[in-house]
Amino acid sequence: MNKNVQFITGLKGVRSIVAVTAYDTIIATIADRADVDLILVGDSVGTTLLGFDSTIPVTLDMMVHHTAAVVRAKTSAMVVSDIPFPVAHKSFETLLNSCSRLMQLAGAGAVKIEGGAEMADKVSKLVNAGIPVVGHIGLLPQRYHVLGGYRKYGKSATDKTDLINDAKFLQDAGAFAIVGEMIDAELAAKISKSIDIPLIGIGCGSSCDGQILVSTDLLGLTQGKIPSFVKKYADLSQSIEQAFKNYVDDVIGNKTN
Ligand code: KIV
Repeated sequence: MNKNVQFITGLKGVRSIVAVTAYDTIIATIADRADVDLILVGDSVGTTLLGFDSTIPVTLDMMVHHTAAVVRAKTSAMVVSDIPFPVAHKSFETLLNSCSRLMQLAGAGAVKIEGGAEMADKVSKLVNAGIPVVGHIGLLPQRYHVLGGYRKYGKSATDKTDLINDAKFLQDAGAFAIVGEMIDAELAAKISKSIDIPLIGIGCGSSCDGQILVSTDLLGLTQGKIPSFVKKYADLSQSIEQAFKNYVDDVIGNKTN
């Protein structure tokens, strides 16, 4: 069964939505076999696979390339593609053209846009043009250079009001789901209760309507630090290193077929 917008929104209040990032055909195929609901081709591809220090250098061409690879896995999970920096802040026409490249050329089923209330107008126009949109509030990695470091959101009174507002504006604009990143767990639970669309959390506690993790983090492939909230479900880095070591030994010892 193909998981579409209606399927994802219909899970709210029924069971937790399971979302994960993927950037290529292999991981998307395997995640789909495990029955995840939503695959995000995140601009985190920049930091997870491409060696950049932030998501800022990720271009639309890169997103099209990785989205197309994920779509070729022909998953029943819904494929959502990230709008990279700073496309959502350019003219609406540029944003619309970028969405159409991700959907028509690469085959994404929806796009994700970082930002809250300030993006509502554009989200509304995209939805009117037939483009399903996922919002993204809380920590916004594309604002890395103004944030001066990653932190938890939703502790201060201003943060609280702003984040609840952001979620409501995005819902009213027609977003079908919202990713909440690094939001205080109590506030995330409150946001989830205050909107009718799903809030899919990462580092937001367990009371959201779903969870999303970066695949390389949960698989133990990330080289270097991973966020403290991530549970590692495998240690693939170690397994792969061992496999390469065995290969090296076999070749040096003339033990290959
Ligand atoms: O790019 C990404 O992977 C994301 C997730 C952290 C939600 O936006």
